[in-house]
Amino acid sequence: MRYKSVGILTGGGDCPGLNAVIRGIVKTCLHFGIQAWGIKDGFGGLVENRIVPLSSQDISGILHRGGTILGTTNRDNPFHYPMQCKDGFAYADMSLQAIRNLTEKGIEALIVVGGDGTLYITNEFYQKYDLPVIGIPKTIDNDLPATERTFGFDTAVSIATEALDRLHTTAESHHRVMILEVMGRYAGWIALHAGLAGGADCILIPELPYMMESVLHKIQERITQGKRFSIIVVAEGAYPVGGEMTIARVVEGSAEKIRLGGIGNKLAYIIEEQGQLEARCTVLGHLQRGGSPTAYDRILATRYGVAAVEALNNGNIGCMVALQNDAITCVSIERVVGKPYNVPVDHDLIKKGRFIGICFGD
Ligand code: F6P
Repeated sequence: MRYKSVGILTGGGDCPGLNAVIRGIVKTCLHFGIQAWGIKDGFGGLVENRIVPLSSQDISGILHRGGTILGTTNRDNPFHYPMQCKDGFAYADMSLQAIRNLTEKGIEALIVVGGDGTLYITNEFYQKYDLPVIGIPKTIDNDLPATERTFGFDTAVSIATEALDRLHTTAESHHRVMILEVMGRYAGWIALHAGLAGGADCILIPELPYMMESVLHKIQERITQGKRFSIIVVAEGAYPVGGEMTIARVVEGSAEKIRLGGIGNKLAYIIEEQGQLEARCTVLGHLQRGGSPTAYDRILATRYGVAAVEALNNGNIGCMVALQNDAITCVSIERVVGKPYNVPVDHDLIKKGRFIGICFGD
């Protein structure tokens, strides 16, 4: 055991399995006699010194619970921290204050659970202050490289698949085109997996800009075959050839300035205008992130939590735990950040999907 006192921080959007990770870390710390500390509300809590010791009681009964007992935020970056001033907000580098808060409590290392943005900040602490850090890949989007899975993805896919099953029966009854808009930001992993699992007729993802004619052609083809309904899954970041992503809102002062959303309703409008069938859109939104994680995500999150403490014990710092060939390994965080992992256009699921008649809009 190298470190006697370890902090845990969850950053970015919440994700099913966060509590399972926290539980895995704390239980492993207890096993090795390490004191675990919880940092409240992501990097904001680190700067503002909201740090509490975590005991066995704190993690009791949380394995199956969604959200994070520590709280999270995707707004705060200690290296560019928003401070209230008389003219509104100004930004300051508060990273040294964050380090002081850790030192004051005797916290020697930090395990950070997050997606790309959070891991980027984690790496900055490692590079600039030599702070021993371990990253854990978290996002429903599954868009981090060097790992076969981020935890949370399986749950999001299951929820989207269940939604598709439900849309199927109502689509069939009313002879409608049902569109499900799913999350994923700039990656189409959720749409691709849920679309296949839920029997979608069209799957539209950002990696393959779509042509409206292809989508309309697919719907028409099904009508000709006597199938008077169709199911479309569209990723929030999907866009037409020569067009742009649909932005719901631009938010100043947020790390992720652009909020995607609205493409599903746009499609529904065009289909109704040009096609023969009525169309309806369901935006699944944050339902994909709330509630209990699947068994797969609970297990993966637990493995990641345990492996993070093992990595610290082995002195494997500055790395992210990752899943490769179904084994947990460690990769340098540097290798991961700023390199989004998108669906390769020749991905096997796309190839197989084409053989069973799925239209990808291209
Ligand atoms: O990265 C996870 C994610 O759920 C994306 O799929 C989505 O675009 C975004 O976060 C939504 O973020 P927010 O919680 O800020 O609405």
